[in-house]
Amino acid sequence: MSNNKLTINADQVLSTIDRQIYGHFSEHLGRCIYEGIWVGEDSPIENTKGIRNDVLKALKEIQIPGLRWPGGCFADEYHWKDGIGPREQRKRMINTHWGGVVENNHFGTHEFMQLCELLECEPIICGNVGSGTVQEMSEWVEYMTFDGVSPMAELRAQNGHEKPWKLKYFGVGNENWGCGGNMRPEYYADLYRRYSTYVRNYGDNKVFKIACGPNVDDYRWTEVLMREAGRYMDGLSLHYYTVPGVWEKKGSATGFAEEEWIETLIKTQRMDELITRHSAIMDQYDPSKRVALIVDEWGTWYDVEPGTNPGFLYQQNTIRDALVAALNFNIFHAHSDRVRMANIAQVVNVLQSVILTEGEKMILTPTYHVFNMYKVHQDAKLLQLDLQSEDYTSHGKTMKAVSATASVDAEGAVHISLAHVDPTKTATLNIDLRGLVKDQFKVEATELTATELDAHNTFDNQNVVKPSAFTSFEVNGHQLSVTLSPMSVTTISIR
Ligand code: AHR
Repeated sequence: MSNNKLTINADQVLSTIDRQIYGHFSEHLGRCIYEGIWVGEDSPIENTKGIRNDVLKALKEIQIPGLRWPGGCFADEYHWKDGIGPREQRKRMINTHWGGVVENNHFGTHEFMQLCELLECEPIICGNVGSGTVQEMSEWVEYMTFDGVSPMAELRAQNGHEKPWKLKYFGVGNENWGCGGNMRPEYYADLYRRYSTYVRNYGDNKVFKIACGPNVDDYRWTEVLMREAGRYMDGLSLHYYTVPGVWEKKGSATGFAEEEWIETLIKTQRMDELITRHSAIMDQYDPSKRVALIVDEWGTWYDVEPGTNPGFLYQQNTIRDALVAALNFNIFHAHSDRVRMANIAQVVNVLQSVILTEGEKMILTPTYHVFNMYKVHQDAKLLQLDLQSEDYTSHGKTMKAVSATASVDAEGAVHISLAHVDPTKTATLNIDLRGLVKDQFKVEATELTATELDAHNTFDNQNVVKPSAFTSFEVNGHQLSVTLSPMSVTTISIR
């Protein structure tokens, strides 16, 4: 007899799950931009205006809603004028932060905007507060969005783009408590007020301004920012990475034991506590929840793959990462009244990537498949649910074995996603579907599972972890009995 029970109240609609929760992050770091996305027009790798076609196709499939760029720590060292004009004449420099390699600035504003157009996603640009000027930031926004007669609009036209782009999301600095200038919150709050003043709305382009938010549990940062600058921002960011070990010895992406498995999954669930507590502070200053909490960096951070440049942050991605993704999505959904954007770090070849490349080869990671299975929740309405789950215990640590989320989309289809973290046994879950309008419905499901803790896809074996049709369920009226595989992510559609 199972003690796992899920009640879904399909007639109790909560907040909208903003599609931007499924956003990505791309930095000039390692092989994310160069090779992972940009190969140049003359590359033997098939490309569209220099951007590799296989990656474009894969990202379109998961309906990528937004892409953050150019960093990260790189953003506060980036001077956008170095990345415009004829490519061969652009400045070459050393990427001092990430691996000490030559940055030739071939991928700049035009190339990024082109990428977002091809992906049909929102560009999310992060400006330079740490080492840039107010004028530089102001001119960048003018360059991208001003329609009419102005020095920057003219420069843009000279560089081949007469019409302005649409730019919705703009971050005013990144990690300004750390790599973005080591500032105190009081100092950054004042700088934010100053810099953001000159991030102008030109014509009908309305910029959604994102202030640099706290590192993990720095609640004082949130307090000071909301108090001193809350009324000038549309969003406040939060960064939290899941590190199984300690910073100096984070642990390996593969070849780990069950102790590290549970440690990682427990640590990733800290996201819930962080969002709850930062939101509570935001509620004091912004009870109507006008200001969004933007989790613009999240994901797993392990030791780099042996033999790779330590500054490139290249890591493999396993079924454990798939569960990390699902647990975080379930948390973001539950907080979608306040959390209206999240960007996994990073899209290709860096940290918890959805895509890995090696020369002309490309593979989809288990995390990619979770983005694909969860895309049905984009812009859907969150449904109220009650979940009773058995515990999963290992090496003296305990967490709930099952995590769930449910939403209803514009066509009335209900989607339930379940993460089952216990790698040792199946879990039977009884689902009570209350409040469904229809008496007759069709149930279809997909699961992602594996038989090894570190199951992953490689360039030689690309489909070790991939979704498959899931049929281990029985429907009896409005009751659904589901048998979840060990270490699995499942999405059930009810139409
Ligand atoms: O994603 C890698 C780095 O992590 C980013 O550059 C920085 O913002 C964070 O510390």
